[in-house]
Formats: sequence, C-alpha cells, structure tokens
Amino acid sequence: MPAFTATAPAKIILFGEHAVVYGRPAIAVPVTSLQARAIVRGAPHAPHGQVRLISPAVQLDALLDELEPNHPLRRVVELTAQELGASYLPACQITLQSTIPVASGLGSGAAISVAIIRALAAYLGKALADETVSALAYEVEKIHHGTPSGVDNTVIALRKAVYFVRGQPIESLSIGHPFTLLIADSGIPSPTATTVAEVRAGWQQNPAYFEALFDQIGAIVQQARSLIEKGQPELLGDLMNHNQRLLQEVGVSSPELESLIAAARRGGALGAKLSGGGRGGNIIALVDESNAAAVGESLRAAGARSVFATVVQ
Ligand code: PMV
Repeated sequence: MPAFTATAPAKIILFGEHAVVYGRPAIAVPVTSLQARAIVRGAPHAPHGQVRLISPAVQLDALLDELEPNHPLRRVVELTAQELGASYLPACQITLQSTIPVASGLGSGAAISVAIIRALAAYLGKALADETVSALAYEVEKIHHGTPSGVDNTVIALRKAVYFVRGQPIESLSIGHPFTLLIADSGIPSPTATTVAEVRAGWQQNPAYFEALFDQIGAIVQQARSLIEKGQPELLGDLMNHNQRLLQEVGVSSPELESLIAAARRGGALGAKLSGGGRGGNIIALVDESNAAAVGESLRAAGARSVFATVVQ
C-alpha cells in the first residue's frame, strides 16, 4: 500500500507577545526547521473503517474510537473526514512523528493537526484549500486552548509570516528579504496561561502603566512589519532588543532568559528577545552568516538546552 505523507512546520512569535492579548498587533513566523509529519497507510486487512493512530513519541497506539470523543487526534480525523464528505474512512493506520518540542510555544498541536488533515486529504485523493486546513485545525486548537487567537493554525497551515490583531482577520506578510533566527530553549517549562494571568493581575493594579508599555510594543510591531516587508531585516535587531526591554518591564523575563539573551548578543547577534509567554521557554536571536555559528556556541555555553536555526522567507 502506498503511504500518504504530509508535514507541517512549527511557529514562533517574533514581536508583540502579551501586548497582543490587549488588542495590540503581533507578528508570528513559521519555523520550517522543525516539522510534524503524518503518514497514512491503507490497511486493507483491517476491519471496515478501522482507523489506528500511532504516535511513538507519546506512547500512543490506539484505535480512533477508543479515544475520548473530544481527544484532539480523534477530533481532527473526524472533522477532516466530514469536511471531505467521507461518511467513513477506508481502514488505515496514521503514524505521527514530530521534531517540534511540545508545550513550548512552538505550535506543536496545530502542526500535528495540519499534517494529519493534509495526509488524510491525500489518502482520499482530495485537495483542501489552505484556508480550510487552517479552519479545521482551529477547531482542534479550541480543545487545547479554549479561546485560541488562531495564530498557530494560520501560520502553520499557510506556512507564511502573519500580522495579527485579536478579533480581526489575520493578514499574511510578504518577506522582502529572508533572514535567519536562532531559537534557543531555556529548558524551563513555563505555561503561557500562568504568565498571561500574572500580567493581567499587574494590569488590573496599574492599567495606565501597562497600557503605555503595550502601546510601545504595538509601535515596535508596526515598525517591524514595515522593515520585514521592505526587505531590511538586519534592522530588526534593535527592535528585538527594544521589545525585550519592554517585556522585562511587563515582568515576563527571568534571569535564565536574560542570560541566554546576553549570550546571544555577546556572540554577535543583531538582536535577541524572549518569544511567547516568557519566564521560561525560548529566546530568539537574529543572526547572519558571519555570526550564526558564534552565537550558537555562545548560547550553548550559556546553558541553552537546544539551539536551532530557521530561515524566515
Ligand atoms: O507561547 P505562545 O507562542 O503560545 O505565545 C503566547 C503569546 C501570548 O501573547 C503571551 C499569549 C497569547 O495568547 O497571545
């Protein structure tokens, strides 16, 4: 039996985290060096309509209807079959593989969904528009996140940088000139919901102070958008540094993140900042060919759990 394989990238927030919760814009980009992969193989000898899901990384090997009705993997398979007009799926085995770390702001859940949706569409010999893939993945994001912003599924399904403001249609960004980021993991787990709640508590106590910070972050995002579209990414470094100073004031940095950011700058990065919820998780550094290796070494020496490069294009 032939195998039908689809992959989907990770995502990372480039500018605007936290302020985006308060109506300011943010920019997120695909991370193509990390991938989720779904492989669908027909199982002609299996009982009619039986779907088996295998994900070695999470020790999952289960039949679809053994999973809870609201299990994200079950939902994504059923929603996709429905969208494709298939009353049942011909018996098959879906194998999942991913190099995207889970729960670290890299969109691993949305990437798995998008890979499954595309691989199943290929298995059934049908095509789905990127927007439809994104909308299906969004339905599954709701199970993970309650009220997701829609960023992860959009960036990942469209494989494009996006500019977004809560409650408004997400815009894709054209990249005037490619640029390279290093992404370094602090190894510290930090649920986004925790930092978001802490920022909210601070904002409730001192709304004027936080609103002023969010305005400044929003202005940085606008400038960044213009530089990205005009093809002047080398000028993004200063904006990253400035955004990081404001995130410190918002209160979501940490000594560990600061130490990685300082290491990136020592190594010659054009700029560096935390990405996502903060406290732990990842930092991103803007590099070019001349300094990428040195920045990577500097980050590893400072204790980064992992460092990888991605080209935004
Ligand atoms: O950690 P991530 O990539 O899911 O990003 C969180 C971004 C926040 O602005 C902190 C929260 C949010 O919901 O936008």
